[in-house]
Amino acid sequence: MRHLVTLHDLDSSEILEIFALVQELKDKRARGERPQLLQGRTMTQVFEKPSLRTRLSFESAMWELGGGASFFSCKEAGLDGRESVEDVARVIGRYSDVITLRTFSHELIQQFAANSQASVINALSDLSHPCQALTDLFTMQEISGDLSQQKLVYVGDGNNVAYSLANCCAKLNVPFVVSSPSGFELCSKLVNSLKEKFPSIQLELEADPHKAVADATVIYTDVWASMGQEAETEKRKQIFADYQINNSLLSAADKNCRFMHCLPAKRGLEVTDDVLDSTHSIVFEQAENRKHLAKGLLVWLMQQS
Ligand code: CP
Ligand code: NVA
Repeated sequence: MRHLVTLHDLDSSEILEIFALVQELKDKRARGERPQLLQGRTMTQVFEKPSLRTRLSFESAMWELGGGASFFSCKEAGLDGRESVEDVARVIGRYSDVITLRTFSHELIQQFAANSQASVINALSDLSHPCQALTDLFTMQEISGDLSQQKLVYVGDGNNVAYSLANCCAKLNVPFVVSSPSGFELCSKLVNSLKEKFPSIQLELEADPHKAVADATVIYTDVWASMGQEAETEKRKQIFADYQINNSLLSAADKNCRFMHCLPAKRGLEVTDDVLDSTHSIVFEQAENRKHLAKGLLVWLMQQS
C-alpha cells in the first residue's frame, strides 16, 4: 500500500509509469471507453480548504472508473477536536481504499498516512501540492512531446505549488527557475536537499523576472496570496507588483513560450487577461488534465495495494 504525501514518495520511473497510465486512460476516454478499473473501490475526501479542480477531478475520476466517493469537511470528519486525528484516520482508513486530504497543516496528512490502512493522497497542504505538479509536468510532456527540451520558469510566490514543481522537475530532469521577491523565495531547505540528492539538477533562483524568463519554454505563476493568507492580500499586491505575467514580461521570453497557472487565478494581479486568454495559455488543458491525472494516479495506487 502506497501513499502520496509529497513527491518524495515517488521515484522518476514511477512518475513516468503514472504518466503512461494517465495517457492511456485519457486516450480511452476520448474514444468513449470508460474502463471500470476501480469497481467496488471507495474514496473518502476530507478537505479543510475550498477546492474546485482537486475535489471534482478525484470525485469524477472515481465515478468514471466504477468506484464511489464521499466528501467531508475536516469539521464534519471530527478533526475540529471531536476526536483525535489518529482515531479519525484509523476509522476512515477502515472504510476506504483511498483517502484524499486538503489541509493547512502538512503534518496532519503525515499523521493520516501513519495511521490509515488506506492509501493517503495529499490534495494540497500549506507545504506542497503534488497532484498539481504531476499534472503540470504531464501536460508539458503531452504538449511538447519531449520534457528534456523544456525549461519551466515559475514567477511568483515560492509556495506549495512551487515546492512540488521543484520536486517534480528535479525527478524528471527538467530545468526549473524560480523568480520571487526577496523573502518569498522557494524554501532553501528544499533547494539544498534537491541539489544534494540530484547533483546534476538545473534549479536556479533568479530574483529578476525579466532575466528569469529569457529562455523559458513555459512560464508559470500562481496566486500571490494562497488560501489562509487572505489577510496579506493588499501587502502582497505591492510586493509582487513587478512579478505580474503580462505582455511585457511575455515578450522577454521565446515567442512560442507557453503560459501555465494551476488556477484559480486572480485576473489582473499575478496575470493579466490578455496573457491568460492568449494563444500562449494552456491553463484549461492543464485544468482538464487534473482529472486524467487523478484517474491514472488512483489506478496506479490501487495496483500497489
Ligand atoms: N489547482 C487546484 O488545486 O485547484 P482547486 O483549489 O480548485 O482544487
Ligand atoms: N497556492 C495556492 C494553490 C491553489 C490551488 C493555494 O494554496 O491557495
